[in-house]
Amino acid sequence: MTPALRVSGLAKSFGNVPVLRGLDLEVPSGSLLAILGASGGGKTTLLRLLCGFERADAGTIAIDGIVADGTVDGRPVHLRPERRRVGYVAQDGALFPHLSVADNILFGLSRAGRRDRRRADALLELVGLPSAYAARPPQALSGGEQQRVALARALAPGPRLVLLDEPFSALDAFLRVGTRRAVADALAQAGTTALLVTHDQSEALSMGDRVGVLRDGRLVQVAPPSELYRHPLDGRLARFVGEATLLDGEALGGIVTCALGRLPASVPVPDGRVEVMLRPEQVEPGAADGTPATITAISYYGHDASLTLALAGQDAVLLSRIGGTQALGLQVGGQVRVAVRGPVVAFPAGPVP
Ligand SMILES: Nc1ncnc2c1ncn2[C@@H]1O[C@H](COP(=O)(O)OP(=O)(O)OP(=O)(O)O)[C@@H](O)[C@H]1O
Ligand SMILES: [Mg+2]
Repeated sequence: MTPALRVSGLAKSFGNVPVLRGLDLEVPSGSLLAILGASGGGKTTLLRLLCGFERADAGTIAIDGIVADGTVDGRPVHLRPERRRVGYVAQDGALFPHLSVADNILFGLSRAGRRDRRRADALLELVGLPSAYAARPPQALSGGEQQRVALARALAPGPRLVLLDEPFSALDAFLRVGTRRAVADALAQAGTTALLVTHDQSEALSMGDRVGVLRDGRLVQVAPPSELYRHPLDGRLARFVGEATLLDGEALGGIVTCALGRLPASVPVPDGRVEVMLRPEQVEPGAADGTPATITAISYYGHDASLTLALAGQDAVLLSRIGGTQALGLQVGGQVRVAVRGPVVAFPAGPVP
């Protein structure tokens, strides 16, 4: 099946500063790809290129198999934004304050479409808001509700693709979780293909069918969330997607030896010097036969807690995540014995590309 979006070799510089350097991606129809990237990494630039607001220096963008940017029969193509059928939920949501919620939703439609109140009601329902909101001004809605209206507006013209630019970053933690769910459900129900960009790893992992990591102007890894978290490509990526401790070690025959003992590797690794990745939830204090460590900090979150630990003779700070109750008896400066649960991922040591 033709992917709803296919991008290849996309490049864009501002002045002589390259932002995107030959980016490739594919989004299968009806799925959501979340792109995780640092601030200033080019996420908004990518979306603006896909919308047609900016022009790429090189590369091809095809939406539902139709070239929007690139060349066709040797001739350059740059489809105008309104001909791409791409919905865009901008970083700030940006509803029109002088229009009602319904008029905001129907804004991008033809004159007849803009009078279709039933359509506004149906879209409100799709994003999980009551139809009574239709007549309100956007200011009378919470931030999360406004973001859902912005999504309803993007969905109204029946786009082939919806782009979401950090749509939840302005919301508080509680509202963010609920709004993420509501938006993911609305997109799935409408069967819409979507691309979401964010610097928030929990947003990317919880919303994406697949997650791509944008680094140095390219997608360096694209995988389902659990695969990306469990098997990142290298140590730098391990730290970018979730927390991780990296310890020096030595691999021999699928077993790695490091400051925490001999551990089985979960994926094949060549013999020799390695970096061993430990996720905090793998590092368990309170193991009778574990390695001695000193607690240097405790952050208590209620449901769970995170510890930082120092190992004798090691520079690396060891991170551990434990249940909230388990943390109650522990104190900074206290000694614990730590063991590693489950197999570990090891990366061949050497310069990170
Ligand atoms: N129109 C422009 N002219 C010049 N430089 C630009 C322009 N737009 C973006 N840039 C630069 O390109 C880089 C990428 O910007 P972009 O807005 O795409 O990043 P981002 O990943 O969306 O960041 P954030 O997470 O902070 O929103 C930045 O260094 C930015 O200053
Ligand atoms: Mg941005």
